[in-house]
Amino acid sequence: MAYQIFHGTVIDSLSQSDLCIIEDALLVVNPDGEIVELLADLPKDKIPAELSRLEIPTPFPVLENNIRYLSRGQFLIPGFVDTHNHAPQWAQRGLGQSMHILDWLDRVTFPNEARFRDPAHARRVYASCVDGFLRQGVTTASYYGSLHAEATKVLADICLEKGQRALVGKCNMDRNAPEYYRDASAAASLADTRDCVAHVRRIDPEARLLRPVLTPRFAITCSPELLRGLGALAAANPDLPIQTHFNEAGQEMAFTRELFPEFAGSEADLYAHYGLLNERSILAHCCHMSEHEVARVAELGCGVAHCPVSNMTVGGGFMAAPVREFLRRGINVGLGTDSGGGFSSSILDAMRQALVASNAREVMSEGKDKGLSISELFYLATLGGAKVCGLASKIGNFEGGKEFDALLIDARAPGVMTVLEDDDSTETIFNKFVMTGDDRNIIEVYVRGRLVKS
Ligand code: GUN
Ligand code: FE
Repeated sequence: MAYQIFHGTVIDSLSQSDLCIIEDALLVVNPDGEIVELLADLPKDKIPAELSRLEIPTPFPVLENNIRYLSRGQFLIPGFVDTHNHAPQWAQRGLGQSMHILDWLDRVTFPNEARFRDPAHARRVYASCVDGFLRQGVTTASYYGSLHAEATKVLADICLEKGQRALVGKCNMDRNAPEYYRDASAAASLADTRDCVAHVRRIDPEARLLRPVLTPRFAITCSPELLRGLGALAAANPDLPIQTHFNEAGQEMAFTRELFPEFAGSEADLYAHYGLLNERSILAHCCHMSEHEVARVAELGCGVAHCPVSNMTVGGGFMAAPVREFLRRGINVGLGTDSGGGFSSSILDAMRQALVASNAREVMSEGKDKGLSISELFYLATLGGAKVCGLASKIGNFEGGKEFDALLIDARAPGVMTVLEDDDSTETIFNKFVMTGDDRNIIEVYVRGRLVKS
């Protein structure tokens, strides 16, 4: 790979409240995919001098040919981080909407996921899945695989081949699942987990793109022995993130309480007891949280994967997680598509639905928890998600030294996005994209400098 040089508008998040719009930015990416320079307000005619100051070896004799000039309506943003995604459910999207969670798992999800016992099926669906998410600008995904070790290894292979940054985990489930789709025992589940962890480390030894992740589906499908074993793995491997479903829905919470009466309905105490809650934990949903649980999640440093689309379609009811409260308490929050729960595999849709959920919370809290702004939604989709996945030192925005995971947006690409007016400010164009754009406006996608959609 050569140096890549962009000139034009760049938009990213510096923090939850700090949207950064840089005009006439010069952004330089080195052959290893790292951002070596981001300069603001540099007129075109100053670029050659700036590049010679940076001593960038240019592969082309004419420097001008090597610079990508963005036109009006085009801008770069960081790639989207999907903090909660079920890769096998790519094949069941749109099915079973409005069902309660445990019924949806039994009738729609488990029969679908069981098909991944066939690695050829896994290869077909996962190739389509990774392509589909990259096309929508998901440069990083935290994936749950099925329970099958072979299929999960295939998923990791495909992410690496196609160039998607990913956390990949074999789903653990040794009880309360049908005979045809259940780990044979806690010991077998742990052995398969270790096998998958080793595979991911072997194919990407420097973790340039891939990380293994421990993935107990949720307490309902894990015996105490399995949870204990996963906690021991987490303790022995301080680099391993952990992901699970957490306080998602009424049906799930009631059954969890029945299975583990000793925790009196506190999933925070349950997962903490088994050594699964720390700053590496990615907790999906967190819709219904007692004060005690919010405090524990905050003090243990866990991240939240907020999945507003599935929360309002699959699970049973209308669940609106208290995201404003999480942010106020300093808890890291990112967005998840939770795809195949819900109707969408788009982080743009997750941003919009997070807005709806936050408006609901504003009403429910009688104005105490204000709805989320566009810049906050954008933060959740990028830097917030990077923090939740433990990747904020590498990705999430365009700070010098980070890796170039980026989307080139074209607000004028053919599609249905709100049309631009001549006097639109960059912020107006950005708002129009966030609220009405789609994958057609995402014309190029880069992961670690590699072009993965064009
Ligand atoms: N809880 C346990 N498994 C799942 C799943 O696949 N999707 C959702 N939304 N919730 C779950
Ligand atoms: Fe999920």
